[in-house]
Amino acid sequence: MSRKYAIETFGCQMNVHDSERLAGLLEQAGYEAAADPGEADLVVVNTCSVRGRAEDKLYSRLGELRALGDGRETRPTIAVTGCVAQQEGARLLVRAPHVGVVVGTRAKRRLAELVAQAESSGRPQIDTDPHDDISFPLGVVRRGDLVRASVTISEGCSDACTYCVVPHTRGPVRMRPAAEILAEVSEAVAGGRREILLLGQIVNHYRAPDRPGCGFADLLALVNEVPGVERIRFASPHPRHVSDRLVEAMRDLAHVCKHLHLPVQSGSTRILATMRRRHTREEYLDVVARVRAALPTVAVSTDMIVGFPGETDRDFADTLSLTEAAGFSSMFSFKYSKRPKTFAINYLQDDVPEHVKAERLRELQQVQRGIQLRLHQQLVGTAVPVLIDSLSRRRPSDVSGRTTGNTVVNAPGDPSWLGRVVNVRILRAGPYSLWGEAEESGLDRQRAHA
Ligand code: SAH
Ligand code: SF4
Ligand code: F3S
Repeated sequence: MSRKYAIETFGCQMNVHDSERLAGLLEQAGYEAAADPGEADLVVVNTCSVRGRAEDKLYSRLGELRALGDGRETRPTIAVTGCVAQQEGARLLVRAPHVGVVVGTRAKRRLAELVAQAESSGRPQIDTDPHDDISFPLGVVRRGDLVRASVTISEGCSDACTYCVVPHTRGPVRMRPAAEILAEVSEAVAGGRREILLLGQIVNHYRAPDRPGCGFADLLALVNEVPGVERIRFASPHPRHVSDRLVEAMRDLAHVCKHLHLPVQSGSTRILATMRRRHTREEYLDVVARVRAALPTVAVSTDMIVGFPGETDRDFADTLSLTEAAGFSSMFSFKYSKRPKTFAINYLQDDVPEHVKAERLRELQQVQRGIQLRLHQQLVGTAVPVLIDSLSRRRPSDVSGRTTGNTVVNAPGDPSWLGRVVNVRILRAGPYSLWGEAEESGLDRQRAHA
């Protein structure tokens, strides 16, 4: 009987995709997916370290996993991968001695081998070495999403935002060859995926190592040409590298979504400087204006941090006013959290009290919620193309999908619509999603194409 694995994932899209790769590697080594962790011989916890809370959740989950083996003949092997594994290495075993394997972000390909070694020797195995991991074999990834496929274009980050642990956990930036990216896109499409999500820490800094002169806008053009690609998204670009060529590519390439997720982190130039983002508030708003001039309907979303060291009420007021001025379509917002090995933990005082951080976060989210509701209400009565990507769990007769701007739309539908673009007339709007009805004509067109 083949051995069974389960993977639990914390963190960003990059980590979710790493788990798809780890699953593929384990299956290649003869493992089979377990229906639940309780019946797994190997439980992999793929971890995130971006905020303290994410790290704390890992240790409580590891505690729960220890109990999983109680009463069983053999206890499952517990492997920790991802950003906390890279950051903590052997220290992880001090707090969680039942962990058998620790695999850093650049040693993923060794997972199955290290598990076998740990099991045969009875000793924990750890690899946090900086292996060359930019290439990944084609056909191995085990994709969890039927419609959207993540494709890595670069690994790591060589920026040094003062709050951020990612350059430490993921290493310096490495670019993946364009030929490999395109081969994976074709493979994903052949496997039925319609939307491609290009992933990297700063995607618009991309330079193809195998094609001189090929930057991110050129890569978008190449992916746009791959037959069968319906939509292209990317995460995340950096405001400093939004070139005119990128804006033109977003305007002119039919399959590139009219959505720019452009993390800003703060609306205060003073705080942006101590964060070392290397742009001002005005420069950010200029980028947004430039993008909107070329693409009037573009959705711009962002990431924001409140309570960064030294953030005053005035700085926070700048964050609120930038939020209004930019008119974000959505926002991931976080309370600043001290991270190991960052400039901020060593040289800046975490001086905004917790209750102030919490209050600012609440206020920001309330402002953002109002903006979203306003934007969504403008869509009521219009028909928008929606790529159907899931069936509703609560109401099996409903489907849901996303607009080109990445807003979730729910509508009565049919499971056969999965992976299709359907025109939906919007009837109702909330701050986080829309409800509507598929237009018959749109459906007929889809059927004629099918
Ligand atoms: N490479 C991406 C961001 C990766 S981290 C980029 O540069 O856009 C994802 C988000 O987590 C960041 O955009 C930031 O908003 C948040 N984040 C990172 N470090 C944080 C910290 N120490 N405290 C709170 N939020 C943080
Ligand atoms: Fe972190 Fe900044 Fe790099 Fe993004 S650009 S991963 S926030 S250091
Ligand atoms: Fe992603 Fe978390 Fe690592 S956000 S890069 S999994 S620290």
